[in-house]
Amino acid sequence: MTPPAPNSAARPRVLTGDTPTGRLHLGHYVGSIERRLEMQESYDCFFLIANMHAFTTRADKSADIRSDTLEIVKDWLACGIDPARSTVTLQTEVPAIAELSWFFAMLIPFNRVMRNPTLKTEIDSKGLGDTYPFGFPMYAVGQCADILAFRPVYVPVGEDQVAHIEMCREVARRFNVQYCGVDPKTEDADFEKAGGVFPIPQALVGRVARLPGIDGKQKMSKSLGNAIFLSDTPKEVQKKLNKIFTGRQSPTEPGDPNNALMQFVDAFIPAPRAAELKDQYARGDNIGDGHVKQELGEHINKLLEPIRARRAEYEKPGGDDVVIDIIKQGTQRANAEAERALWM
Ligand code: TRP
Repeated sequence: MTPPAPNSAARPRVLTGDTPTGRLHLGHYVGSIERRLEMQESYDCFFLIANMHAFTTRADKSADIRSDTLEIVKDWLACGIDPARSTVTLQTEVPAIAELSWFFAMLIPFNRVMRNPTLKTEIDSKGLGDTYPFGFPMYAVGQCADILAFRPVYVPVGEDQVAHIEMCREVARRFNVQYCGVDPKTEDADFEKAGGVFPIPQALVGRVARLPGIDGKQKMSKSLGNAIFLSDTPKEVQKKLNKIFTGRQSPTEPGDPNNALMQFVDAFIPAPRAAELKDQYARGDNIGDGHVKQELGEHINKLLEPIRARRAEYEKPGGDDVVIDIIKQGTQRANAEAERALWM
């Protein structure tokens, strides 16, 4: 592996992560991955596999968490995340994250954590009731440490993560005020200049904040069984697209230009053609759902083709070792950077 560019310290820092719950899907791509690919050109990017967070709901499935970790890194590499420019790292192998989590847990009231809307939604949608472990809400505090250990200025995430980033910003402000003597009235952008250890990082939501799943209702998500994966074959992709439910009866029935199918059109078909299709669809100008799905399939498969080809390289025998090596090298750099925050 080539070492990171020597001027890396001058590039603004970015951090984001994924929980290893399975392979990545199209919702991840347009919600966050696309943004990461753009940013790695001019930012010093850190991409973290949040494997500890996977234990909050699957502590009994450590072998799956390990293989999901490798699958996600393969997806990242297949998409074009370049370990020569960006740092790929693993949460459990960065002790600073665990250390900071403990201190951050003192800076945030218990009830504030429990009011976090993303946690609440997850408790509902995963049907956790009141049976979840203590470590489940703790992950939201841990996520503050994932981020702040690397002192990034930007955190590219899906819309559902914005509540977590807001909590992280509160923790960063409080730490800077309490331990670095920064005036609490300081503007967010000036906390470091004012002597704070941590910047107040900003969330950057991707081009498509929320891609629906093929059920046409809920957000695309592996656990809801409505996802099209980046590693699906062209046939699987088309078959899944064909299932998108719109309730529309005929090519001459005026369609809803904001329905799930049209949201896919917006996400995957380039602008002038997407606008044309939506207009035709809204007027019911002899355009069937089947035609739209076919055209979508072509665009999506064109996007996924190079991703599949690169992924195939890592699926060959020995591929796991190559991936583990990339994670190890990235984690060395990650630890060097996270240690710096601890010694400031
Ligand atoms: N909770 C995030 C998700 O489920 C994953 C994550 C963990 C993360 N640590 C992070 C995202 C730090 C951004 C920054 O998608």
